[in-house]
Amino acid sequence: MQVDQPLPLLGGLSPAQFMKRYWHKKPLLIRQAIPGMQPLLERGELLDLAARDDVQSRLVIQQGISAKSPWRMRQGPFARRSLPPFKKPGWTLLVQSVDFLDARVQALREQFRFVPDARLDDIMISYASDGGGVGPHFDSYDVFLLQVQGRRRWRIGRQKDLTLQAGMPLKILADFQPEQEFVLEAGDMLYLPPRYAHDGVAQGECMTYSIGFRAPDQVELAQSLLQGMAEQLADVMASKRYRDPGQTAAAHPAHIPAELQAFAQEALHQALRDPHLLARTLGEQLSEPSAAVWFQPPDTVTGLQRGVCLDRGTRMLYDDRHVFMNGESFQASGRDARLVRKLADCHFLTSSEFARLSPEAADLLGQWLDCGWLQPLE
Ligand code: SIN
Ligand code: CO
Repeated sequence: MQVDQPLPLLGGLSPAQFMKRYWHKKPLLIRQAIPGMQPLLERGELLDLAARDDVQSRLVIQQGISAKSPWRMRQGPFARRSLPPFKKPGWTLLVQSVDFLDARVQALREQFRFVPDARLDDIMISYASDGGGVGPHFDSYDVFLLQVQGRRRWRIGRQKDLTLQAGMPLKILADFQPEQEFVLEAGDMLYLPPRYAHDGVAQGECMTYSIGFRAPDQVELAQSLLQGMAEQLADVMASKRYRDPGQTAAAHPAHIPAELQAFAQEALHQALRDPHLLARTLGEQLSEPSAAVWFQPPDTVTGLQRGVCLDRGTRMLYDDRHVFMNGESFQASGRDARLVRKLADCHFLTSSEFARLSPEAADLLGQWLDCGWLQPLE
């Protein structure tokens, strides 16, 4: 990835400048980040996705101040007839992970790879009728809000008080204090760092794409890593049973022996001492595919005249020792490692690069093709 070249996508900043000045720090409005932007999916195609039970979707309806709650939220899937009429104002349909389901949206995601893949979450598409929105709120993650169709008025503020209204079906700030206001047209984009208060209201029918990032919570990460590592411990740790030939007769039999506590502590130290186990488990978890993704093995064995590319549902990462793909880890070294890392960074290998793989690595990539993780390059 070229990181020093100015990009229209970032308003003429290079990725390096954007990351240094704005990322995770302050908002940036970019007029015509993508000139001539048109919806990548028609409204009907988005509705088809929202009807699928393996795709996460939500419907948010504003009910007006006279209703018991001004907001209503329903989780998908949504049959078309269960959605409000398009002419009815004040509703929004949100569909998650469209980039893993649609090649056109995946191609858009590729433009944001100046941020490490491990941080990228997904692209959510929202369709709103006139006046629709999800209310004033904050997100815990960085987000690029790309206006794709119609107009949306955004109000934003960097308030410290992020208290939420109680009893609401969605996150609504109790006291929203907007400081800036912009109307975004198709092609405009607004970057917001985490915890920045914002409220976007559709002016007429509108579609917005949220390119969203993820940042693990330390407690949740420790929980999932310990669980993941636990499953692999038997392979990496020599089993050793507690022995106590020096145990004296217990005057207080219910008291846990200090030696047993020390043995337990040593067991955990042993488990955490293997740095590769931790790194491997982290990579496996970060590369887990989205729940909406189903890999399709190819119908016919097509040639690899042009090489291979990642399937749009595949998540591929690497560290200094491993390559991770869709929740699994592999080890490679030398030329194979260089080629497979190139596949992870560029998302394709040409046929001549493929031909330079060792027979074992070529066989592994053949298996990835067979299960639909890779596709022949067209
Ligand atoms: C939307 O697209 O309606 C909501 C996006 C957001 O505010 O994060
Ligand atoms: Co938001």
